[in-house]
Amino acid sequence: MRPAGENAHKRLIDFLRNDLRLTGTKEGCGRGHCGSCAVLIDGKLRRACRITVGQAAGRHVLSIEGLGTPEHPHPIQRAFMEAGAVQCGFCTPGMIMATKALLDANPHPSRGEIARALRGHLCRCTGYVKIIDAVLLAADYLMGAVNTPVPPGVQGEGSVVRLDALAKVTGTAVYGADLVLPGTVHVKAVRSPHPYARILEIDAAPALQLPGVIAVFTARDVPGINRYKRQREDQPVLAEDVVRFCGEPVALVVAETEAAAERGVQVVRVDYQVLPPLLDPAASLAAGAPSLHPGGNILAEERLERGDVQPALAQADLLIRETYRTTFNEHAYLEPEAGTAYLDEEGRIVVYGPTQAPHHDQREIAKVLGLPAEKVRMRQCVVGGGFGGKIDMSVQCFVGLVTHLLWRPSRMVYTREESFLATTKRHPFTITCTTGCTREGLITALEMDILADTGAYASAGPGVLTRAVLTATGPYRIPNVRVHGRSVYTNNPIAGAMRGYGVPQVAFALESQIDMMAQRLGLDPIDLRRRNGLEGGDATATGQVLGRDVGYQATLEAVKNYWTRPLSREGAPRILRGRGVASMWYGIGRTNSSNICEAEIVLTTGGQIRVYAGATEMGQGCGTVLGQIAARALGQDLGRVTVVTGDSLLTPDADTTSASRQTYMSGMAVVAAARELEQELLQRASRVLDVEAGALVLADGAVVAGSDRRVRVDLATLAQGGELRRRGRYQSTATRRSEASDATIPYEVYSFGTEMTEVAVDTETGQVTVERVVAAHDCGHPVNPQTAEGQVEGGILMGVGFALKERFVPGSTENFRSYHIPTAGEVPEIISLFVTGPEPCGPFGAKGLGECSSIAMAPAIANAIFAACGYRPRELPVSRNELKEFMASKPLSYYI
Ligand code: FES
Ligand code: FES
Repeated sequence: MRPAGENAHKRLIDFLRNDLRLTGTKEGCGRGHCGSCAVLIDGKLRRACRITVGQAAGRHVLSIEGLGTPEHPHPIQRAFMEAGAVQCGFCTPGMIMATKALLDANPHPSRGEIARALRGHLCRCTGYVKIIDAVLLAADYLMGAVNTPVPPGVQGEGSVVRLDALAKVTGTAVYGADLVLPGTVHVKAVRSPHPYARILEIDAAPALQLPGVIAVFTARDVPGINRYKRQREDQPVLAEDVVRFCGEPVALVVAETEAAAERGVQVVRVDYQVLPPLLDPAASLAAGAPSLHPGGNILAEERLERGDVQPALAQADLLIRETYRTTFNEHAYLEPEAGTAYLDEEGRIVVYGPTQAPHHDQREIAKVLGLPAEKVRMRQCVVGGGFGGKIDMSVQCFVGLVTHLLWRPSRMVYTREESFLATTKRHPFTITCTTGCTREGLITALEMDILADTGAYASAGPGVLTRAVLTATGPYRIPNVRVHGRSVYTNNPIAGAMRGYGVPQVAFALESQIDMMAQRLGLDPIDLRRRNGLEGGDATATGQVLGRDVGYQATLEAVKNYWTRPLSREGAPRILRGRGVASMWYGIGRTNSSNICEAEIVLTTGGQIRVYAGATEMGQGCGTVLGQIAARALGQDLGRVTVVTGDSLLTPDADTTSASRQTYMSGMAVVAAARELEQELLQRASRVLDVEAGALVLADGAVVAGSDRRVRVDLATLAQGGELRRRGRYQSTATRRSEASDATIPYEVYSFGTEMTEVAVDTETGQVTVERVVAAHDCGHPVNPQTAEGQVEGGILMGVGFALKERFVPGSTENFRSYHIPTAGEVPEIISLFVTGPEPCGPFGAKGLGECSSIAMAPAIANAIFAACGYRPRELPVSRNELKEFMASKPLSYYI
């Protein structure tokens, strides 16, 4: 870099991204905690957020853009693509730079050395397994040990390279913070420092006097309805008279630069009358508690009843009653929320930002701005992870409002602290669970009471509660069931959708109970689950009779093979080892609703296939998977297929990308569109070739005669008169509860899973290390096995965090320094197994997987801890201190 001059005090990351427009270097935290901003300075790995331009001046700075290009990717970049190490891709440039530094110093690292070298680089998506694989592959490439060209990924089936991988490994993918248009103004929010307070006055004058500040907007400036709705319309876009959680937005400061906007935020004066906050659901339910919302403090209440619970519990040979607690969890995607709004040539407000529901966002933004929906376009940016947290809007309404009022492009980028403070969390649950069973281990009754802290506003709280209640029975036949759930408003952060949607919490309770049953009855925990496990044709507690796609028993069989192997004795007697198992089920799609997805397929005049799907790609790989489904349905190579996702103007509505629904539902819609297009192509080819349509088939780039493939007509020829466009639609058969029927079909199909863990417990420190995981899932036939494995591995690490590390404390957790997610140093050996039921359903046999792999992990770990040392966790994350104290209270003979 040249001598620094006036930029000397600028952070290097700002100089690279803003001045040089080299946006491949990402800012995940700005504090040196995440590693996403890594660059090499004179060959040494450095964090560009922690170094100034002055410190880098006169030295050689290498960022991701200097390593390789889309035309000529570096071998490390190729290795990341081929090994499936890229999901959302936000951590990827930093990981690749760290890999370069490592391999320059150590060309042949072991897996352990790689894990240690990458420990300071966070990834929330991949579980690090495929990143470590990629480093090993890159080492081979650089040593010339492997010399294969990039697999082009042209087949519609199997583990093809993701369609978005090249842009992500080369730093050319455009995330929300990467788009800066000429004339852009910058937006920052004034946020409440109080969990509950009345707003007496907002004085914007001090901010408006600052140089560069253009405007300060409050609720009074919202031209439409100042309410945002996910599942209830209870949340103001900008607070009106009351704030209900710390971080609630009160005003927006708009300025010519980000720094000026930030200075403006500091001086806007808000007078509050501080009110006593309600910080737990019990306080909210107490007599005399103030109502946080007009309808009272209970957001939602759900019941599931089957059979007659009380007599069944009374007659049970073994009755177990326990209370379990979980805490707030942060999604901790590596990309903080960011986006831009602008006016297009037709006067539409276009919002380019992170979303898991583009059409919903379009309607909500339009409502807030007082515009017809067609005057707003929501375009999904490249999204750096979602896990449910980007189902709710963040920057969308803010930048939309500013652009609408000022007629200038506007941009808003959350800091990591702001992302932690202001966005939704996983619900803390308190669960009291009573189970009854026979001495042979047949579960006869389940009673469960769920109390969920939904925080200040509804978000997805009602849906999370409903799913938790409907899924509380786990993948088991239980004849007598009574589940009661309440979701309660407090002045805590808003709790919403997070991977698993209420199911991880109830699975922790139920699977712990089942482990206790097995232990007290002296039964094998896998056999006990097999005795009670659902099969095709069984009825669930809602009365739904399952189809023949149920593969739960197959997941138990697959894990059983690993269950009886001897555990390592390494480290004994200080280290105690144990093995635990837990199962899960997860309904695919939104609850109790006939989910609809639409998709379009276009044959271009050049003979290419373009898929338009409203599903959103946030790293999970659905863009590639839908492309593969289209390629397969049309008999085309994937190289001929492009996919456009998540754009309210261009793509049909596929509702939210949540509930593991898009592979199944958008996949079915893609297949339906493909069938329509195929019929049209066969008819056209029949006329051109003078061969009956029934005797023709699609081949790559052409329609050919089945009997003689030399008789053919190119797709481009068939589209000469103009592109061909066909739409497909899929509507699930799920139904709401009805008075008329005893049965509810909350979900059309279910995925199942069983996970086994081996843990090591350090008796002196209370440290728990997950050493091995065997995960068997019935998600149908995975369309892209490499992507599916990546989902499993990422979910497993998220489950490890849920079980052992992650606790979001409102008012104190600020960033990755105080919220610890698993690192590359904590990756267990993971064996992923995919099984199916007797008759798989869905597009080419695929169901859904995204949320499944994290659900059974926490109870499997808790059960393994019990097996290791006799401590039964009833609260997550497991307290290391409690565990240590428990072990200190037992004589050594207790363990031997
Ligand atoms: S370490 Fe620099 S952005 Fe996180
Ligand atoms: S791929 Fe690593 S954070 Fe998403």
